[in-house]
Amino acid sequence: MALIAPSLLASNFLKLQEECTMLNESEADWFHLDVMDGRFVPNISFGLPVIEQITKTTEKLCDVHLMILEPEKYAEAFKEAGANMLTIHLEVCPHLHRNIEQIKSLGMQAGVALNPHTPIILLQDILQDIDMVLIMSVNPGFGGQKFIPHSLKKIAALRKMIDDAKLNVKIEVDGGISLQNAKQVINAGADVLVAGSSIFKSADPKETIRQLKQL
Ligand code: DX5
Ligand code: ZN
Repeated sequence: MALIAPSLLASNFLKLQEECTMLNESEADWFHLDVMDGRFVPNISFGLPVIEQITKTTEKLCDVHLMILEPEKYAEAFKEAGANMLTIHLEVCPHLHRNIEQIKSLGMQAGVALNPHTPIILLQDILQDIDMVLIMSVNPGFGGQKFIPHSLKKIAALRKMIDDAKLNVKIEVDGGISLQNAKQVINAGADVLVAGSSIFKSADPKETIRQLKQL
């Protein structure tokens, strides 16, 4: 059984309170919050003031996925806005170790995200310092894209790398996950599934979350 982290990027922003209540009443484990800066990724989503409101509505873990350049400038502000887990992209961090230490020293869990083309070998000397790896199974920037099949091999190889090193690092997979492919993603070794469109655009989001939990 995997943890389910619905991505609010696909929610109805005009009904954010209702969407949060729905997630709180559902079997969802985490809230996944996607922050985009229009520079690292070709899209802009929402930021600190919105996240500050969302985190007030829930006791569930708030998993903030930063798709932004210079995440170190904002780590403290995201902590103050209620983030429990802060995930930053390896591709934007020449001083990744320093950035991870900063996140942990602020009292948050630290995650590292990899774009589809970024090899997991680059994690070798940081894996022992982090709580989670986020494998992007689409190119970051937009919800509703198609799952990249090669991600399954990457997840399995990362699972082996983590298990061989006897580490307690979670694998989160993000992008194009639905009831149709979620089982394969879990079997490959994922611990946390992010799902946006497949939950919020379904006829009964709570039921979809329940079904994802049962896989
Ligand atoms: C994409 C985001 C994802 C996205 C997932 O850049 O990181 O979290 O919201 O949405 P779906 O599940 O629709 O692919
Ligand atoms: Zn995300």
